[in-house]
Amino acid sequence: MYRLGDEEINAIAKVIRSRKLFRYDEDSECIRFEKRYAQYLGVAEALMTSSGTSALVAALGGLGVGPGDEVIVPAHTYMATAVAVLQVGAIPVIVDVDESITLSPEALEDAIGPRTKAVIPVHMWGLPCDMNRIMEIAQRRGLLVIEDACQGVGGAYEGRKLGSIGHAGAFSFNHFKNMTCGEGGAVVSNDARVMKIARCMIDCCRFFWDGKEDIQDFSAAGSRASEIEGAMMNAQLDRIEDMICTMRQTKKQIIASTTASGQLQASPRHSPDWECGTKICYLLPTAEAAESFVSQVGGVIAAKTGRHTYNEWDPILNRRAGHVPAMNPFNWEQNRGCRMDYSLDMCARSLEILGRTVMIDNNPDFPPQKIQELIDRINAAAESVCTAAAK
Ligand SMILES: Cc1ncc(COP(=O)(O)O)c(C=O)c1O
Repeated sequence: MYRLGDEEINAIAKVIRSRKLFRYDEDSECIRFEKRYAQYLGVAEALMTSSGTSALVAALGGLGVGPGDEVIVPAHTYMATAVAVLQVGAIPVIVDVDESITLSPEALEDAIGPRTKAVIPVHMWGLPCDMNRIMEIAQRRGLLVIEDACQGVGGAYEGRKLGSIGHAGAFSFNHFKNMTCGEGGAVVSNDARVMKIARCMIDCCRFFWDGKEDIQDFSAAGSRASEIEGAMMNAQLDRIEDMICTMRQTKKQIIASTTASGQLQASPRHSPDWECGTKICYLLPTAEAAESFVSQVGGVIAAKTGRHTYNEWDPILNRRAGHVPAMNPFNWEQNRGCRMDYSLDMCARSLEILGRTVMIDNNPDFPPQKIQELIDRINAAAESVCTAAAK
C-alpha cells in the first residue's frame, strides 16, 4: 500500500536531467534519504540497498552471522527471510507464530539451542511483534536480533519505529510495501561497525573509500541503490507518516465497530496505537468459519496468501540452497550440528492459527462511506458465520 504522484515524477525527472545517476555523486539523493530515514527511525545510520533481501543479508553479515550458526525465523513470513539466512551460510530454524500471527516468544525461547546465534522477528503485514518479550529473551539468552521490517515500514512498537529496536533492521521498498521505488530496501543499525560491514556487503569496492583499518576486507555481491531510487524514496518519505496515521485510525474504527458485540474476535495486537494498520485481521473460531467469512466479506485467509508460510518454501524444506551443491550451506561441514530437519507439519500450531485468520486490506484513501459499507458487511458476515460456528 503506497501513495504516488507528481512529486515522485518530478524528483526522478530532476535526477535524469542532472545526468547524475550514481549514488556517490555530489548532492546525492541516496545519502539525503539515508540521513532523513535514520532520523525518522531514530537510529544512527541507514543504508539503501537494492532490495529487502539484500538488506537482510547485509544486516546478518554486518552482525557476523555465518556458517555454523542457526537463526530462528517465524513460520509465517515471506521466504526471503529464511533465504537471507542461507545467503550468509547459516541455517534457518523455523518456529511457530502465535495468534498475533507474529513470532511466538514461547516458541522462540523453546527453540534456542547451542548453535542459535540470532533471531529474526518479522513485523508481518505491518503487525508489530511482541518486541519487549523478544528483546528480553534475546538479551537473557545472548541472541542477536535482526528485525525484518520489510512489511512494517512506517509502523512502530510502543513508540519506537519498527526496525530500530533490535541490533539491526531491514526494510523493503518493493512494489507491495508502504513506501516504494519499485524495488529497493534499507538496512539500519546503531552500531557503526555493523554498518561498515553492511556497506561492504552491498558494495564490493567500499573498502577503497572507507579504508580497511578496523575490519578485514572481503568480497561480496553488489546491491547498491541508484539515484533514481533515492529521489523517489525522498518523495515517499514525505508521505509515510500521514498515510500510516490514517490507516491506523481507520483500522481502529473498523475493529471497534465490528467487535463490540463480542461475536467477532480481532487478532491480538501487540501495539495497536503504533502498528501500520495495513491489514485488518480477525481470528475466526474455525477454518470453515474463516472460509465462509471471506466468501461474504472479501479479504484473504492468512494461510492462503501464497509463499508466506513455511509449508510453501519448497527449496528450504528440501534443503536446496545455492546454485550448485558445493554452494549449499545445508551440505557444509560447519553446519553439520545445526538443526535442519524440516517437515510440512513441524509448525502445526501456526498452520491451525493461520487457517483461521482472515485479513482485509486497509487503504489510506478509503472515503467514510466505503469504511461504513465495509463495517456493515463485516457485521453481517459475523452474525451468520459466528452463529453457525457456535451451533
Ligand atoms: C517479510 C519480508 N521479508 C523480506 C522481503 C524481501 O524483500 P524484497 O522483495 O525487497 O527482496 C519481503 C518482501 O516481500 C517481505 O515481505
